[in-house]
Amino acid sequence: MQTPADMRGKTVLVTGATSGLGLATAEALAAQRARIILCARSPERGEAARARLLAAAGDAEVHVVLADLSSRAATLALVDEVLRSFDRLDVLINNAGVDVGRREVTADGLELTFAVNYVAPFLISNGLLELLRTSGRARILNVASTGHKAGKLEFDDLQSERRFSGQRAYNNSKLALVMFTYELARRLAGTGVTVNAVDPGFVRGTRIGGTLPLGYQIIGTIMRPFMAPVRKGADTIVWAASDPSLERTTGQYFKRRRAIPTESPTHDEHLARRLWKTTEALTAQ
Ligand SMILES: NC(=O)c1ccc[n+]([C@@H]2O[C@H](COP(=O)([O-])OP(=O)(O)OC[C@H]3O[C@@H](n4cnc5c(N)ncnc54)[C@H](OP(=O)(O)O)[C@@H]3O)[C@@H](O)[C@H]2O)c1
Repeated sequence: MQTPADMRGKTVLVTGATSGLGLATAEALAAQRARIILCARSPERGEAARARLLAAAGDAEVHVVLADLSSRAATLALVDEVLRSFDRLDVLINNAGVDVGRREVTADGLELTFAVNYVAPFLISNGLLELLRTSGRARILNVASTGHKAGKLEFDDLQSERRFSGQRAYNNSKLALVMFTYELARRLAGTGVTVNAVDPGFVRGTRIGGTLPLGYQIIGTIMRPFMAPVRKGADTIVWAASDPSLERTTGQYFKRRRAIPTESPTHDEHLARRLWKTTEALTAQ
């Protein structure tokens, strides 16, 4: 068994830390002595997660910050709160995600999956860049999914207005997230801030997809024995957040503790720049 990394003196922010992979990741990093900032949308669930981390590691330093990441204003308020309250940030883990059965529109007029899975990581990463930069060597991790392979960016229907399927929206949001990961890594080359995507594999025992139609629930139940337990799924996220050998590794897609190649269009720089510009326009005041 490998010795866990020592994260003493490091501050880690995990979004979606109240459940599933985010909670398991935060627990593991707290056990490695990192100062943890849990991002939650519900105060009760945030406090429950904090209590769980403290029960496992009583002397851990755990903070809760609140934001509904489907809202641009709430996401930017979260960024402000982190900038005001913390003097450093060594690792940002954009983990919060949804997979919904029905098309839902956020207060900002965006399709919910696109907003939470892709736009929120875009806003948080860009908003916290300066803090990450000034903390020395820092890491941004975006929790991706194999689903990105089936994704397609249709710029004339990014909000799935013409055609919606939950699976399609999820896959497209994760493709956008992987493309953003590579584009941000290119933009931050040489700054000391690395940006990588992490694919946890197919994981059982999390709450994602809980509102999908019955057919998906049945497939999920059939697939359960072939899915990894949460802690195993979180393992690569924890490794990518803390392993000293990855200090300078950037622009990669990790799965099972290995960097693996991804297919086009993830490496299409023209498309990535277009996506970035479009996202800036969508999130402009
Ligand atoms: N499970 C898998 O097989 C799998 C595979 C590949 C990738 N992933 C990715 O792994 C990440 C974590 O998923 P999971 O499986 O651990 O699911 P989960 O148990 O449902 O956890 C999702 C987390 O995101 C939070 N969240 C959802 N919507 C939010 C919002 N609007 N604002 C703030 N927080 C919000 C949830 O908060 P609440 O507690 O308040 O609901 C929860 O903490 C996701 O990005 C997912 O796409 C999962």
